[in-house]
Amino acid sequence: MGEGDGRRQLRARHAKRSGMSVPTTDTVYVLNGPNLNLLGLREPEIYGSDTLDDIAAMLEDRARELGLAIDMRQTNHEGMLVDWLHEAQAEGARAVLLNPAAYTHTSIALLDAVKAIRTPVIEVHLSDPATREPFRHQSYVGMAAARTVKGLGARSYLVALDAVAQL
Ligand code: DQA
Repeated sequence: MGEGDGRRQLRARHAKRSGMSVPTTDTVYVLNGPNLNLLGLREPEIYGSDTLDDIAAMLEDRARELGLAIDMRQTNHEGMLVDWLHEAQAEGARAVLLNPAAYTHTSIALLDAVKAIRTPVIEVHLSDPATREPFRHQSYVGMAAARTVKGLGARSYLVALDAVAQL
């Protein structure tokens, strides 16, 4: 951790204690939901052959060009995604790219979390759920997301990151 990071964290802690809003950082949280740890192996005809690590590497390159930083995470647990969304705001993340995977279609808790924070959230999907089974047509997260990028494979994440620069 560099000195700049330390100062930023001190400022953030002071802001939190005194009820001020936390200063925005250059970090974009990239949160991935259940089964996305198996990307590359999992139904490649739908999701492609890139792994989550491949996508993280592409995002890091693009983020550097945009003057941003990436904090890429994956979990199979719904509540963890809720905690990370709260953390994104508490740490002053610039934005969140969120691929909630199957929780997209079921999770009112995630919808509420996206509504509860001021940090902009961009919903991301590799596939286009609207062209798949009817149970994927409903997106709770999409009801509160600033934007949705879907159907472009791994490129959905890159397009979503470019969109952060325009928020
Ligand atoms: C997905 C689409 C969801 O319907 C599915 O449950 C996923 C991945 C996508 O990125 O295309 O796990 O979010």
